Amino acid sequence: MLNNIFRTDQDQRPIGIFDSGLGGLTVLNDLAQSFPNQHFIYLGDLANLPYGNKSKDNIIKCSLSCANFLKEKNVKGIVIACNTASSYAYEQIKNSLSIPIFDVIRPCAESVSKSNLKKIAIIGTEKTIESNVYYNIIKSLNEKIQIYNVACPLFVPLVEEGLESSSIAYSIIDMYLKNLKKLNVDGLVLGCTHYPILLDALKKYFNNSISVFKSGQALADKFSITSRKINKTNNNSVQIKYYVTDLPGRFIKYGNKFSFQTIKDVQLVKL
Ligand code: DGL
Repeated sequence: MLNNIFRTDQDQRPIGIFDSGLGGLTVLNDLAQSFPNQHFIYLGDLANLPYGNKSKDNIIKCSLSCANFLKEKNVKGIVIACNTASSYAYEQIKNSLSIPIFDVIRPCAESVSKSNLKKIAIIGTEKTIESNVYYNIIKSLNEKIQIYNVACPLFVPLVEEGLESSSIAYSIIDMYLKNLKKLNVDGLVLGCTHYPILLDALKKYFNNSISVFKSGQALADKFSITSRKINKTNNNSVQIKYYVTDLPGRFIKYGNKFSFQTIKDVQLVKL
């Protein structure tokens, strides 16, 4: 059973998680808080950030390198904590590695399709939106939902620069989402793992009147029986190792702003 890797205490091997940068930490937060008995290894591929405007071939190549790195660390399963990589590389990773692989799109699309919402918007990187993976899965499960797709390419650099609460963030949100606001959508799918870092700004922009779906939360909810939350103060019992392919200092500086656990040691690796 796939979900055993999150629930079992017998297999003490870590769960591997990767993203192009900081965004996957939002998925790690959700998973580590739902499954505090598990150990995790996080890899941020900062040397290749951003994935969201790369070619399909390059996204697959980078994603496979990350997955292979984690496999060599003897993880018991891998979470692709990146919607862009989930859109293009999920099948390839699943077919080339003989361990359980989880993407962040399917659980989120399933949870959207089960909601009572009528008109939703999916926001994501240029390549995630172009792939139409969210749209196709949601429509295949619930053809009545009306869906709008909006690519927001500047959201990732905003987050990676630590500007999520700045006035620039609000201007950029308005630039991308003003048409959506006029359409009165009732649900917003954060189709990029960096976007939960903009959650407060996004909620405020929609006057707190919109249901928001986060891909990491949807994955954690899918595999947890009850949602267990641990506080930022007593979190250091969850064992997490951090690796990046570039700029460890930057990862610590910005990652610590929203990581549920204090990030101290980050190892630089070449893939
Ligand atoms: N966080 C990633 C995602 O969920 C991608 C960001 C990027 O590298 O463009 O799509």
